[in-house]
Amino acid sequence: MSNVYVLDHPLIQHKLTYIRKKETGTKDFRELVDEVATLMAFEITRDLPLEDVSVDTPVVDNATAQVLSGKKMGLVPILRAGLGMVDGMVDLIPAAKIGHVGLYRDPETLKPVEYYVKLPSDIEDRELIVLDPMLATGGSAIEAINSLKSRGAKQIRLMCLVAAPEGVELMQEAHPDVDIYLAALDEKLNDKGYIVPGLGDAGDRLYGTK
Ligand code: URA
Repeated sequence: MSNVYVLDHPLIQHKLTYIRKKETGTKDFRELVDEVATLMAFEITRDLPLEDVSVDTPVVDNATAQVLSGKKMGLVPILRAGLGMVDGMVDLIPAAKIGHVGLYRDPETLKPVEYYVKLPSDIEDRELIVLDPMLATGGSAIEAINSLKSRGAKQIRLMCLVAAPEGVELMQEAHPDVDIYLAALDEKLNDKGYIVPGLGDAGDRLYGTK
């Protein structure tokens, strides 16, 4: 699948296995999601542009070295499960600004409805990474990205732990310009909308609710 990147680093895959296990309790689940988000942040930022600068080292003056070339980043967790990925990302991208998008599913239409949006004022200048652990039907992530684009966002990536092929396909149709970064592309959705094999309800497992 073009523009879908499965981040198959062994540490990501190892930790994801423990995230999937039903015996993993809230504390460990949260810590593992945090760690995987950090590892994914490392991979997703591989292509950030660098620029040359001159530094004086203890050994020599005017050595050429590189720093990030001032690209402005933004993280946009989709409430509520996306929040579980924020701290791990911020560990590596501490200057990122953080916006939030909240959506609920209308019980009649089953369509996602926006109930909360708060974004950095300059989103059109930022490289945004939308965070949602599960890309299942794709409905929420597509709607969240619609919302960001309608407010001027131009550069958007999507980062999820686990996706179903059905959700990836719909996302690619709706937003072909958005690259998708995953820890795993799973088999399918079941008839209750859960990803198989998946990890269950990410929000409930992160926050200990049911
Ligand atoms: N949301 C989740 O949290 N888990 C799934 O499997 C699908 C959607």
